[in-house]
Amino acid sequence: MKILAIETSCDETAVAIVEATGDERNAHFHILGNALLSQIELHKPYGGVFPSLAKREHAKNLVPLLDAALEEAELVREDTQAMSEELHNRIAETLAREEGLAEAFFDFIDECEAPAIDAIAVTAGPGLEPALWVGVSFAKALALAWDKPLVAVNHMEGHIMAALAGGEGDGLVIKNVALPVLALLISGGHTELVLMKEWLEYELVGRTRDDAVGEAFDKVARMLELPYPGGPEISKLAEGLRDTEANVSKVRPYSDEEGLTLLTQRLPRPMLHDATCDFSFAGLKTAVLNLLKKHGGISASERSHLAREFEDAVTEVLLKKTERALVREGAQTLVLGGGVSANTHIRRVFKKAIEENAPNVALRIPTASLSTDNAVMIALAGFYRALRNDFTDPATLIANGNLSLA
Ligand code: KG4
Ligand code: ZN
Repeated sequence: MKILAIETSCDETAVAIVEATGDERNAHFHILGNALLSQIELHKPYGGVFPSLAKREHAKNLVPLLDAALEEAELVREDTQAMSEELHNRIAETLAREEGLAEAFFDFIDECEAPAIDAIAVTAGPGLEPALWVGVSFAKALALAWDKPLVAVNHMEGHIMAALAGGEGDGLVIKNVALPVLALLISGGHTELVLMKEWLEYELVGRTRDDAVGEAFDKVARMLELPYPGGPEISKLAEGLRDTEANVSKVRPYSDEEGLTLLTQRLPRPMLHDATCDFSFAGLKTAVLNLLKKHGGISASERSHLAREFEDAVTEVLLKKTERALVREGAQTLVLGGGVSANTHIRRVFKKAIEENAPNVALRIPTASLSTDNAVMIALAGFYRALRNDFTDPATLIANGNLSLA
């Protein structure tokens, strides 16, 4: 089955074409085409994702990315296409709310024969709703124009599949997944522990009560005068310090009393000792803010120290809650997914902890390129939905910023 997948939930526009074979127990994926454009540089001056800019960029980039992915997959068949007026109008209406997209769409589609694909998969949520709508409208238009079945994909299921996928040859494989799977999903908008007891059936085990981890990384980075997105910046500083200091411990209990240097400050580990599997990161962020307010300016070494303390605090809480959920739910596989799972320290600490404390649990972490948003992961999730004939009607599909797995 060849799947064309589209992802526009945040600040990455991506189109991938993946050929999938096999079944739910043993599936192989061959990436035929993969085109991605990150908007990070454009959003940098705003210190975060600026929704109307994201929407405009997705609309501008989808057609060129589709073209590039089809070219790479050698699926482009140029030919002048005739379309009924009724279909043309229906598609024009579908694309009407996306500035400039209808013109680009028709220019492309009028010259391109329907490619040999079997289904179109698109992220329907969760994410930034105006951004999601661009991909959803585009996928609907393609499904109509090429008369292909449409699959609505939950972005978080995509992150889970990206983590479950292992490399094999020049492709990916998802096989021998021991259930239940516990997934720690950590991204800019999400922090949750989700249990998959049966394949593709989810239960929520824990979640953040306030900020998502990625959001906390980004906000603290901004306080430390680091550019957006903050996760990789904080990670760079923290890792640099770990390398040079070899972890000489000279931290003191958290206190925002005056007179203490930032270099000796320990940050709180919110909700570390409560009995739930929930998280909270707002207090940690506020602790950093209060320290900075008290101390005025910040030196380079203080910045590195706070970056490392923050990363240590986040990692400790994530690990403790995940270990609690693993034991409580008897999970056989642990998945780390979402943009924050790209974090070097978090990956290292989880690997070591699982090796030492739960050697029977299989830890699955996505490769670096599959951990942040991409369309390959949407194709993987789309494949499993298509296998179950879980198709959606282009007339009724909507984008849902709050779509949840459980
Ligand atoms: O999954 P993702 O690409 O987009 C969302 O669905 O939100 O996650 C983006 C988030 C951002 O908050 C970014 O700062 C964070 O992932 N992130 C990282 C790292 N790389 C990306 N956080 C910590 N360490 C990293 N290396
Ligand atoms: Zn994501």
